[in-house]
Amino acid sequence: MRGRVILLGFVGAAAACGYFVWVALTASIAPARASADRGGVKAGRELYVRHCATCHGDGGRGDGASAAAFATKPADLTDGRLMNGLPDEFLFNVIMHGGPAEGLSPGMPPLSAYLGDDQAHQVIQYVRSVAVPPFRPETAKPLVSLPQAPRQPILFSHVVHAGSFQIPCQYCHADARRSEYAGLPSVERCLGCHKIIGAQDNPEIAKIHDYANRGQPIPWVRVFKVPEFTVFPHKPHVRFGLECQTCHGPIERMRVVGADTGPKLRDDLTRLLGFRPPPRPLTMGWCVDCHREQNTTRGSHAPLECVVCHH
Ligand code: HEC
Ligand code: HEC
Ligand code: HEC
Ligand code: HEC
Ligand code: HEC
Ligand code: HEC
Repeated sequence: MRGRVILLGFVGAAAACGYFVWVALTASIAPARASADRGGVKAGRELYVRHCATCHGDGGRGDGASAAAFATKPADLTDGRLMNGLPDEFLFNVIMHGGPAEGLSPGMPPLSAYLGDDQAHQVIQYVRSVAVPPFRPETAKPLVSLPQAPRQPILFSHVVHAGSFQIPCQYCHADARRSEYAGLPSVERCLGCHKIIGAQDNPEIAKIHDYANRGQPIPWVRVFKVPEFTVFPHKPHVRFGLECQTCHGPIERMRVVGADTGPKLRDDLTRLLGFRPPPRPLTMGWCVDCHREQNTTRGSHAPLECVVCHH
């Protein structure tokens, strides 16, 4: 019974908060498992010394006895600027299944043969405790995995590039401000950084060099798409100050980028309760609802005439 009350409250709240609902929902389903339990930290420290220190160093700075042997150096786990943006599930996956599970170098081995799930979470608690600046559990957001996400030719991670290293979206999608399309980075743009970073021992990065040597573009699979008879220009939306995430969701936390579109059981439930669920992203109702709303609340001149969106 209690579960049902929670579900109904959840669905009602979902209907009330418009476009941002899918972002909010994914965040509320899986609260971060980062409670600052001191006992966990102590147990985590012991496991860390046994399984990690040889590469990552006793203090976690990536300077362990074996570190010198790696082309891609063991990560500095104390660097909070990079570590704090990585969700717990990302760390868990890397620790248990090895670097390649998230596109990182195989120099980071899988440790699931040595650690149980609870132990892995204790190690994570310890690693969180050594971060500078300090890790703040209340800011931790979970990883988002969308079932619709396609398989891409290279395991490129927005979690690493946009989440951890905080490379600005428009560094890579540089056309968004000035044209209809946001654009994807060229192979040369990737190489600008990856001539130096990670090439020697990470097969995912070696693929970038293979495409470059063959003179081929990387055949990325397209995710967000409106039909041919529709015009969607990025420029006016971005210049108006709409965040990319408003329309695309929390890309910096997506293991693989996917679009959360199509019918949803949740929407059918909200309709049953008498609410009008927000239209699904990329449908015409989604465009038009936002245009109406922004014109009323923010004085924009977003078009509602058919011909502007349909030529
Ligand atoms: C055999 C050496 C080795 C051992 C043992 C090892 N690591 Fe690593 N680890 C690495 C290397 C090398 C990388 C860098 C991979 C990359 O950046 O592509 C890494 C990366 C990581 C990352 C990713 C950080 C980031 O910025 O994305 C985490 C987290 C991590 N290790 C945690 C651990 C933990 C916790 C343990 C012990 C349970 C451990 N590692 C054991 C070598 C090791
Ligand atoms: C280092 C370069 C880089 C950065 C930084 C970056 N992206 Fe991307 N982005 C890519 C690449 C490469 C792809 C294609 C592969 C994929 O889908 O993951 C992509 C794909 C996408 C897509 C899907 C495109 C499609 O096919 O529909 C969206 C949306 C997107 N990025 C938004 C963002 C946002 C928002 C940010 C900032 C939070 C961001 N990106 C930061 C390189 C980058
Ligand atoms: C502005 C610099 C920059 C650009 C541009 C860039 N990267 Fe990266 N990339 C990084 C950094 C920094 C890392 C993290 C290295 C580490 O932790 O060892 C990384 C890591 C990676 C990794 C391994 C880790 C992972 O989880 O993905 C792959 C694969 C990768 N990049 C692919 C690409 C591709 C493909 C492009 C072009 C679409 C690209 N990168 C563009 C800076 C960049
Ligand atoms: C108002 C909603 C909205 C905003 C804001 C928005 N996008 Fe998009 N984006 C879309 C739609 C809709 C598509 C599909 C367009 C199509 O099929 O032509 C798309 C497509 C894309 C693509 C795929 C290919 C391409 O070249 O267009 C990328 C990459 C992308 N967006 C990145 C971004 C980035 C980065 C930002 C922020 C700077 C951003 N978008 C802001 C709605 C938006
Ligand atoms: C999150 C809100 C939002 C969504 C979703 C959205 N738009 Fe817009 N759109 C705007 C705003 C705001 C403007 C007006 C900007 C201004 O007044 O400068 C605009 C302007 C436009 C324009 C006018 C461009 C111009 O040059 O004047 C077109 C065309 C357009 N949108 C198409 C679409 C399409 C097609 C979709 C759905 C695929 C869509 N929009 C989704 C907010 C949105
Ligand atoms: C703000 C932009 C926008 C405006 C204004 C707009 N549309 Fe659309 N329309 C779209 C988008 C985006 C799609 C594709 C969405 C989809 O496939 O669900 C679409 C799809 C359609 C479709 C195809 C539906 C289907 O199920 O295949 C028709 C027909 C259509 N629009 C007619 C109209 C008419 C008539 C008007 C004027 C009363 C209009 N549209 C105004 C954006 C717009």
